[in-house]
Amino acid sequence: MRLKQAVVALAAKILASGHALRQIWTKGGFVPVRLCAVEASNRLEGKRVLVTGGSAGIGYAIAKKCAEEGAVVAITGRSPDRLAAAVTSALPDQLHSVVWDVADLSLVSSRLDEITTLLGGEPDILVNNAGILGGHHSVLELDEARWEQVMSTNLKGLTFLTAELCRRWLRQDHKAKILNISSMRGQLGVKDGPYGMSKWALDGFTRGLGLEMAPRGIIVNGIAPGVVATESITVKNVDVESNAFFRSAPLGRLCAPFEVAELAVFMLSGAADYMVGQTIVFDGGYSLKN
Ligand SMILES: NC(=O)c1ccc[n+]([C@@H]2O[C@H](COP(=O)([O-])OP(=O)(O)OC[C@H]3O[C@@H](n4cnc5c(N)ncnc54)[C@H](OP(=O)(O)O)[C@@H]3O)[C@@H](O)[C@H]2O)c1
Repeated sequence: MRLKQAVVALAAKILASGHALRQIWTKGGFVPVRLCAVEASNRLEGKRVLVTGGSAGIGYAIAKKCAEEGAVVAITGRSPDRLAAAVTSALPDQLHSVVWDVADLSLVSSRLDEITTLLGGEPDILVNNAGILGGHHSVLELDEARWEQVMSTNLKGLTFLTAELCRRWLRQDHKAKILNISSMRGQLGVKDGPYGMSKWALDGFTRGLGLEMAPRGIIVNGIAPGVVATESITVKNVDVESNAFFRSAPLGRLCAPFEVAELAVFMLSGAADYMVGQTIVFDGGYSLKN
């Protein structure tokens, strides 16, 4: 019996090292990662959450984690199919979806009304996550149309949605939280075109709004992730649980969307109520290199 177990263990080791060698051969390196989660303990029980851009990537991971912690969640996005798939694959009883391009300011009021109905009341938490990359360009090569598109999604839409929701909250003396998903690019100065500019500005918005709203019961903070394994990054088709290898990051690996969601839920929970106007850099040390 013991011999059989030893043979099985040896076979598993050989198979595992075969996987590692294959990964090194095909991807240039192998970094296995054991992702740790705080066990769900209803930290957001009874909360109503709105996550923009919640059908994929970081937004989806945050929406799912919020639902696991007891919240009802509305997710938005431009593609109805992606939204429907996200709802089905998370916790369908707690997730609602609304088709909404956040760059379209004319929809802010009506979409918020719709979301309020779906959630059974005004959201208590807004996660401003929807965002797009704009390519990495020198300022000398900036394209006006691209600049407009990135700024409208990452900054303008976010600002006017936030302002409208804050007005609604203040009218009802509603205690609430906002979490802005920024980027480590916002820490690096404006060296890669509109994306970095939008995130740099967002971090300033988080500080200013955080200060203005704190005395009125609205807590505003942000997260600046590093390179996260989602569809929007250039390193495509990465399954972080199989191999998170990423040479450029000081930790030698990519971040999983799930890891950002863990931090997000902590910041949205009562345990982080004393944090105001901060953007927490969560980039595996990447921005320290620059
Ligand atoms: N991945 C990274 O390495 C990384 C690093 C730092 C910061 N971030 C930030 O994290 C956020 C999410 O990034 P991600 O990598 O998770 O992106 P992603 O995988 O591309 O997902 C983006 C989500 O936002 C939605 N979306 C895009 N444009 C939208 C719009 N105009 N209106 C409404 N929804 C929109 C997408 O759905 P539709 O396409 O159907 O609209 C999708 O649900 C962004 O703000 C990004 O800047 C990402």
